[in-house]
Amino acid sequence: MEFYDVIRSRRSIRAYRSVPVEQEKLERVLEAARLAPSAANRQPLLFYVIRDEETRAALLEAYSQQWFVDAPVILCACHRPGEAWRRTDLKSYADVDLAIAMDHLILAATAEGLGTCWIGAFKPEPVRRILGIPEELEPVAMTPLGYPDEEPAARSRKDLNEIVEYR
Ligand SMILES: Cc1cc2nc3c(=O)[nH]c(=O)nc-3n(C[C@H](O)[C@H](O)[C@H](O)COP(=O)(O)O)c2cc1C
Repeated sequence: MEFYDVIRSRRSIRAYRSVPVEQEKLERVLEAARLAPSAANRQPLLFYVIRDEETRAALLEAYSQQWFVDAPVILCACHRPGEAWRRTDLKSYADVDLAIAMDHLILAATAEGLGTCWIGAFKPEPVRRILGIPEELEPVAMTPLGYPDEEPAARSRKDLNEIVEYR
């Protein structure tokens, strides 16, 4: 798919077909995240890939939407705050690094014909417990990954002149 078509056609998908995701596709999507830039090239990230049905079902405790756990794959993106680059005023770029990698992943999934939905509104404690995430990692974003079972219309965006100022 052409790059701008990928950007234009991406949607948050909240219904998934019960069809497995091919391993090659999954790896290409993860590879897109691996290639993302990060501050000072620290790459302070770890992605958990959850395919096991029981583990996915258990994640309902963290985010109580059935469509989320019905997807054949759930990805959980974590960063290591201790490894992330900090500006001189100590602002951490861990969230920024994670967001860039996550967006690479989401766009790669779109190019593969796969759906995603960034999930930020999950409870981190059950996620830590269910996935066995160690202290030094922080789960920041999750997404289901699978073949879409819906074709949502594009949601509106602000006009360009509302988000851009020329000087
Ligand atoms: C940081 C972030 C957190 C989000 N958290 C959730 C969430 O917890 N649950 C959900 O259903 N969608 C979530 N979304 C998806 C947004 O609602 C969605 O991107 C927005 O409404 C625009 O729709 P679109 O992605 O289809 O263009 C999140 C998106 C982002 C970028």
